[in-house]
Amino acid sequence: MGIVFNSEKRVFKLDSANASYLCGVADEEGFLGHIYFGKKVPDTDLTYLLRINEPPFVPSQNNRERLSFYDTFPMEYPTAGIGDYRESCLRIRTKSGHEVCHLLYESHEIRQGKEALPGLPATFGTQEECSTLKITMADKAAGLKVILSYTVFEKLDVIARSVKIVNASDDDITLTRALSVCLELDGTDYDILSLHGSWSRERRIQRHAVRLGTYSTGSVRGESSHQEHPFLAVTSKDATEDMGEVYGLNFVYSGNFTAQVQGTQFDNTRVTMGIHPDHFSWLLTPGQEFQTPEVIMVYSCEGIGGMTRTFHDLYRNHLIRSPYKNKKRPILINNWEATYFDFNTEKLLSIAKEASKLGIEMLVMDDGWFGKRNLDNCALGDWTVNEEKLPGGLKRLVDEVNKLGMKFGIWFEPEMISPDSDLYRAHPDWAIQVPGKTPTMGREQYVLDFSRREILDYVYESVAKVLRSANIEYVKWDMNRSLSDLGSFGLSPERQSEFSHRYVLGLYEIQERLIQEFPNLLLENCSGGGARFDAGMLFYSPQIWCSDNMDAVERLTIQQGTAMVYPLSAMGAHVSDCPNHVVGRNTPFETRGYVALAGTFGYELDVTKISEEDRDLIPEQVAMYHKYNDLVRTGDYYRIAGYGENHLYDAYMVVAKDKKEALVTYIQVLARPNYHSRRIRLKGLSENLNYRIEETGQILSGSTLMNAGIQIENLQGDFKGKLIHVLAE
Ligand code: GLA
Repeated sequence: MGIVFNSEKRVFKLDSANASYLCGVADEEGFLGHIYFGKKVPDTDLTYLLRINEPPFVPSQNNRERLSFYDTFPMEYPTAGIGDYRESCLRIRTKSGHEVCHLLYESHEIRQGKEALPGLPATFGTQEECSTLKITMADKAAGLKVILSYTVFEKLDVIARSVKIVNASDDDITLTRALSVCLELDGTDYDILSLHGSWSRERRIQRHAVRLGTYSTGSVRGESSHQEHPFLAVTSKDATEDMGEVYGLNFVYSGNFTAQVQGTQFDNTRVTMGIHPDHFSWLLTPGQEFQTPEVIMVYSCEGIGGMTRTFHDLYRNHLIRSPYKNKKRPILINNWEATYFDFNTEKLLSIAKEASKLGIEMLVMDDGWFGKRNLDNCALGDWTVNEEKLPGGLKRLVDEVNKLGMKFGIWFEPEMISPDSDLYRAHPDWAIQVPGKTPTMGREQYVLDFSRREILDYVYESVAKVLRSANIEYVKWDMNRSLSDLGSFGLSPERQSEFSHRYVLGLYEIQERLIQEFPNLLLENCSGGGARFDAGMLFYSPQIWCSDNMDAVERLTIQQGTAMVYPLSAMGAHVSDCPNHVVGRNTPFETRGYVALAGTFGYELDVTKISEEDRDLIPEQVAMYHKYNDLVRTGDYYRIAGYGENHLYDAYMVVAKDKKEALVTYIQVLARPNYHSRRIRLKGLSENLNYRIEETGQILSGSTLMNAGIQIENLQGDFKGKLIHVLAE
């Protein structure tokens, strides 16, 4: 059991392979304080860290200074209004209009395993793999119960936390802030790592110091967003890829979020994460409860890389559910950049025919197959096949593709409605809007009100009907604008600010229904590229489109940031044509292949139009994918160098769990004059094994490869790359 309770000292201790987490009840009143999270320690009585015996600290000894106690004590789940003026996790409004909430320990239970979170994505594990502590806190005067839940994954240095808030009073209570986590750290001598970007520039890593005051990142766009990311790590100052302490927090949620790091007056650091309090409130009538989404907390004493590998293992084994999660994905060819909206059955079949000869395994038909959609300005919501483009319908096309030995996949954007659509003409009130105001368009479209049952049912049926009509084995679920004009005809005035969260719950419900009815469907989520690449979506789809930017150089940075948290098996990556459609850059076809190999791998180009030279490389790349994908999908990922940092080259590697095989990807982004070779040191191998470098036949010990390293010759030119495959002898 990874959880113990020291009943004498009233301390909870959660242990995993290398980490301990302790919190405890201080003072007779029952304040729950955070004691320690870090490298594993044997003792349970660390209550001295709560300063309980340090008069005149706790209120029982010095009630006169209760206010300074509240503002100093390391709260496990801080609430607003009582005199803790730091960032709080919970704020309520009672029927009388008061906001004060005062939580004290009431009871707890410890159990093996982990319960599902109703309606929400969450990690899972067996009774052998994890155990759960639930601490019930209460504000007796308000009639509120708050159940803090902690699951420790014993082999993984992971604690998954969430909170359930129950209205146990006879009156309504409104939540105006309900975050999932607070983590108190001693001192402020830390750095913050976070991920930021834009369309086609997703998840760039930012690092800066913790300072006094609050650093805050978040999204109020209704989705996790291109711009900010529901991830944050606090690291020791000396943390690198390979050493130092790292606390990584990732929100398993796909909507609005806040993540904050506050350096406080007494040089402590408070970290909080959860649903963004803007555009949020939740009315609880007597007896009702609210479940927050979960936050994953990872502790690493092996640097950023250690945190990364823990997230990867957790998500591959305890979050992604798809039957594809442990399988090679079919190599797909997507027609978006090949044809945009200008295609028909004949064109798609010509691409499929050529692709199948080259070893590509699935054709994905992207946007433009439905309604009268010949441009991005209409028809979203009209999910019926455009027979002018696809005469004989979908069935004919899919059957022909299947005859070529290929699978077939299709694109949807189910959350949207075009003003110019039959659906909008029939149901203008289905778009999110505020009565009397014209909603703001984005890509000439509105967003459907996913908080309403009849809309969810309608959308589900229109998608499912298409899937039932032919042998469709893959769906790309897209979402191409953020939410605005929040308002629903289905919600009462006092519930309007529940909309953003209800929207996300609707999205989860419909995707759950989809994978229940079509359990073998390969679902890939997408949002204008990678605006919803988050842990929440991984619960429904084993892969997510990483970015609309397929330029091999830009992708290095996008994939580095993405892979800092998410497994390579989940990263949608394709080889596209050049000049690149987003940045106009030309890179060698080989290099585009090497970079896409780090993800799900596929093509997004017109294979009938590219040069013969490039086309001839496809069978080689296909063979490479088959040779390396098991390793890439299941192995341990090590970052050697980042082009984003050194501006010259990028290098990363994947090592098999048994350490018998590894693949290094090296990309020389910029050629540098007057140099012959560059040394890189491999990582993650066994010190004691000998390895053969497949390309040269050279045999060297793991220790030599990791300490002395290998030389990479000058690859003569910009954007050149190579793979180095090492095998244990
Ligand atoms: C988004 C996706 C693209 C493509 C287009 C189609 O931008 O990210 O891959 O599907 O929509 O409109």
